[in-house]
Amino acid sequence: ISYVLSITHCLVFTMAAQCMTKVELTVSCENLLDMDIGSKSDPLCVLLMNSSGSQWFEVARTERVQNCLSPKFAKKFVVDYYFELVQKLMFRIYDIDNKTVDLSDDDFLGELECTLGQIVSSQKLTRPLVLKNKKPAGKGTITISAEEIKDNRVVNFEVEARKLDNKDFFGKSDPYLEFYKQTETAWQLAHRTEVVKNNLNPTWRPFQIPLQSLCGGDMDKPIKVSGLCYDYDNDGSHDLIGIFETNMTRLLQASRASPAEFECVNSKKKQKKKNYKNSGVVSVKVCQVVRRYTFLDYIMGGCQINFTVGVDFTGSNGDPRSPDSLHYISPQGINEYLAAIWAVGMVIQDYDSDKMFPAFGFGAQIPPTWQVKTQRRGIEGIVEAYRICLPQVKLYGPTNFSPIINHVARFAAQATQQKTASQYFVLLIITDGVITDLDQTRSAIVSASKLPMSIIIVGVGGADFSAMEFLDGDDGRLRAPSGEPATRDIVQFVPFRKFQNAPREALAQCVLAELPQQVVSYFSLLKLQPPRDPNPS
Ligand SMILES: *[C@@H]1O[C@H](CO)[C@@H](O)[C@H](O)[C@H]1NC(C)=O
Ligand SMILES: *[C@@H]1O[C@H](CO)[C@@H](O)[C@H](O)[C@H]1NC(C)=O
Ligand SMILES: *[C@@H]1O[C@H](CO)[C@@H](O)[C@H](O)[C@H]1NC(C)=O
Ligand SMILES: *[C@@H]1O[C@H](CO)[C@@H](O)[C@H](O)[C@H]1NC(C)=O
Repeated sequence: ISYVLSITHCLVFTMAAQCMTKVELTVSCENLLDMDIGSKSDPLCVLLMNSSGSQWFEVARTERVQNCLSPKFAKKFVVDYYFELVQKLMFRIYDIDNKTVDLSDDDFLGELECTLGQIVSSQKLTRPLVLKNKKPAGKGTITISAEEIKDNRVVNFEVEARKLDNKDFFGKSDPYLEFYKQTETAWQLAHRTEVVKNNLNPTWRPFQIPLQSLCGGDMDKPIKVSGLCYDYDNDGSHDLIGIFETNMTRLLQASRASPAEFECVNSKKKQKKKNYKNSGVVSVKVCQVVRRYTFLDYIMGGCQINFTVGVDFTGSNGDPRSPDSLHYISPQGINEYLAAIWAVGMVIQDYDSDKMFPAFGFGAQIPPTWQVKTQRRGIEGIVEAYRICLPQVKLYGPTNFSPIINHVARFAAQATQQKTASQYFVLLIITDGVITDLDQTRSAIVSASKLPMSIIIVGVGGADFSAMEFLDGDDGRLRAPSGEPATRDIVQFVPFRKFQNAPREALAQCVLAELPQQVVSYFSLLKLQPPRDPNPS
């Protein structure tokens, strides 16, 4: 049953991640090769993608810039961004000499292959262009800058009303407000406040409306506000108290000392009654536009993701030389440990600036200060270190998670001394699941939940993972043995076997889908800003 649960859970998050955000890419080049005799090249840039894993296909192309070796393309590329995928991109520059759509008859000036993750994590990426044979394309370079398309401003409101018309024969009305945005076709509901019971002079709880849903960012766009009263014995048609129209320009003049006040008008009543004035007054005491940062804001604003791997070298995995062992490397050079490191690391490595991933083994019998050295960086370095170390260690025990969690937590705690969102730590633990220090691990996780840190546990083999499911606090909050609850959910557990026959990217998608949300929730809880402006103009 727990497996079924975690499958749905994964699907939910994969779906939620589907429309994460759109990114706009702006391209410019310097020192392009000159192919035209008597004039300069007329470059154009084509963007190709290969996210489905089959072939490169063209997504879009820019305009052609005439007679220019350092073009700045005006047309921007808009692409969907998914944190949990490795999204490969290819930028190709051509010198366009005639009007044919086919580029194969035009001169090729160079290309760059990279990932979207590399672009967003460096915000502005400049690289040399290469020719088809991978040799440099002269001194040509390409610069790609990324900007998230969004309006992440929200409006904080504090609103009250007075002298609202009574709509209730037996007591006082139960009023609430609805805010509408004007669209081409109709008024679109943007927000509904809570119902204040039995009160004609209500004060609503402070609320927040995304600026985008209130007025699409246009401060002069009309906003309609309806004062309604909740009808309990109802057919769904709540009674209208009155309506007013305004806009953000007017609302922003509100202050506690001088609230923005609006008369609620009920047009039916107005027609009937001769000396009708209004059906009450709505008073806006606070209306402030504030910015809410997204995951990409943190990444583009310089937040680094520090990735650490912990590999379970305990005896329960079986002797690595025996094909039954979870550490046995098949003649094809793989096992579940390597596959898990590879899948998750491929995504994360774009966000880690030094690409020096600390990797720890636990549970092996080795001299205390033994280390594996490798020249390789990034995820390949970990894979190599694992291969070097495997024949030399004696798998032993116990399976203690808490030391490695506490180790990473010490660095995460140091990072909190910087008063910006500069670093977030991700610990990937790959284990066969037979944990020996469950209580200490619970305490370690509860402490780590206060730090910029997330833990991903991938369970390999077919053991009983109930202890792991328990650490993944999804169905109820994890508590330390002392009773202290985790401040937020930071553990994501995934059994590897579930993904054995799935596409290669599926494991990474499932384990990483929650990470952007965990990063945002931590930094916004502490009101920490990215180290630099994510969208400098
Ligand atoms: C597309 O990507 C897959 C793996 O993701 C790779 O095997 C394949 O060679 C790529 N295709 C091209 C045309 O580069
Ligand atoms: C377009 O221009 C290229 C390069 O000058 C040339 O080789 C090709 O034949 C031209 N194609 C057409 C259809 O004119
Ligand atoms: C904004 O709303 C106020 C009323 O709240 C109105 O007087 C003003 O004309 C509106 N401005 C625009 C540009 O529509
Ligand atoms: C990343 O975290 C590890 C601890 O797991 C630490 O040893 C390393 O110095 C950190 N890297 C950076 C760049 O802070």
